[in-house]
Amino acid sequence: MTRDNFGSRFGVLMAVIGSAVGLGNLWKFPYVAGKNGGAAFIILYLGFMVLLCIPLMLSEFVIGRRSQANVVGSFRKLAPGTPWYFTGVIGVAAAFFILSFYGVVGGWTLEYIISSAGIGLNSELIDSEQQFHSFTQSTVRPIIFLVIFMGLTTYIVLAGIKNGIERYSKILMPLLFLMIVILAIRSLTLSGASAGIEFLLNPDFSAIDGNVILDALGQGLFSLSLGMGCMITYSSYFKKNINLSKVTLITISADTLFALIAGIAILPAVFALGFQPDAGPGLVFIILPKVFELMPGGSVFAIIFFIVLAVAALTSAISLLEVVVAYLSEELKLKRKTATWIAAVTISIAGVFCSLSLGSLAGIKIFDNTIFDFFDKFSSNFLMPFGGMLIVLFVGWKMRRADVYDELLNGGTLKIKMFNTLMFLLKFFAPIAIALIFLNKIGLLNFM
Ligand code: TRP
Repeated sequence: MTRDNFGSRFGVLMAVIGSAVGLGNLWKFPYVAGKNGGAAFIILYLGFMVLLCIPLMLSEFVIGRRSQANVVGSFRKLAPGTPWYFTGVIGVAAAFFILSFYGVVGGWTLEYIISSAGIGLNSELIDSEQQFHSFTQSTVRPIIFLVIFMGLTTYIVLAGIKNGIERYSKILMPLLFLMIVILAIRSLTLSGASAGIEFLLNPDFSAIDGNVILDALGQGLFSLSLGMGCMITYSSYFKKNINLSKVTLITISADTLFALIAGIAILPAVFALGFQPDAGPGLVFIILPKVFELMPGGSVFAIIFFIVLAVAALTSAISLLEVVVAYLSEELKLKRKTATWIAAVTISIAGVFCSLSLGSLAGIKIFDNTIFDFFDKFSSNFLMPFGGMLIVLFVGWKMRRADVYDELLNGGTLKIKMFNTLMFLLKFFAPIAIALIFLNKIGLLNFM
């Protein structure tokens, strides 16, 4: 059977950007930046984008397109008989963990689309904090929305690469862009918005420490879907005429732009209406509903905002599910349809536990964390940096330099600048930087 693939360049871009742009940009980035010193964090983040994320994304593309296989199979093909395939096993595990809690938050976005319709109907202000907690801590409702969200994800993945992932990304991503620009303009035209812009532009370097640095790295990897083989899996469906460097640069620019626009859409509104930006994960679910409530026509903007969140989450969730589906169908030789259902159902069950861990199962702790937080931290702070390190080491040291060169140049039809710089970053800078940040975080090194 021939492997499915992406039909057009535009389709490739929309799918890859769709994977990258998600809750990481719209939900996590504004509060992580808000908590960690605003502009100072953003500068650090941009540094990681250029020095680490560009090389890592190119590496994943090289591995995926060269091998034309799932994350585990790709390492088996390129380095047969070696333990390198373990990198792929980490990737499949990471996809499983991430999608489990990601699906829960995806479900929340759907609930908030519906509840936004009621904004402004009452003359009394709602207590959005209490509402958020009573919703997320309840047992049944979040699970219903989790199942709907996972159902949509499964529906798209079942339809395949060209007719599912590509087709829906091409419709949803332009729509997403349009909606977020509308929101940013609305936010910027509120009086008092300039405090938010100042916060985004005014660096507070004293806020930077070891934890902030790992947060910036983790956020960069998460936001670009890197370090666990999502991009390996997607690029295994690229045709040979796709320019890998171009896709990398466009994706990283688009993803950063989305994160900044999200910051611009959210933070000025937060400041304008007298709230603080360091509210944590509740920022978009607690503070924003209050902001919308105080805004003329708030209900309409609230509905648009939560549709934006849901769409962004959906196009990311499909890329996570695809990692597991490609693995199950190619390595365990299952039918694609069977593989999709097995993956979707097991991940949803894990998601149910994540959701319950915020309420009735809050007493269950894994290393001091609720199940939800453990899944998030274990993947973002451990599996992804570790996986990312193995991926750059593989391309930097294990693959033949000529093969890497050939893949980046599409067999000699393109030109590439700075190949030597790239190889230097891959061989030395990226692995050492990731290792240092990581060791510092787990407390083995104490230089900050
Ligand atoms: N990048 C997506 C976001 O910003 C989430 C995502 C999709 C992801 N695939 C991933 C995160 C793989 C980590 C790894 O929301």
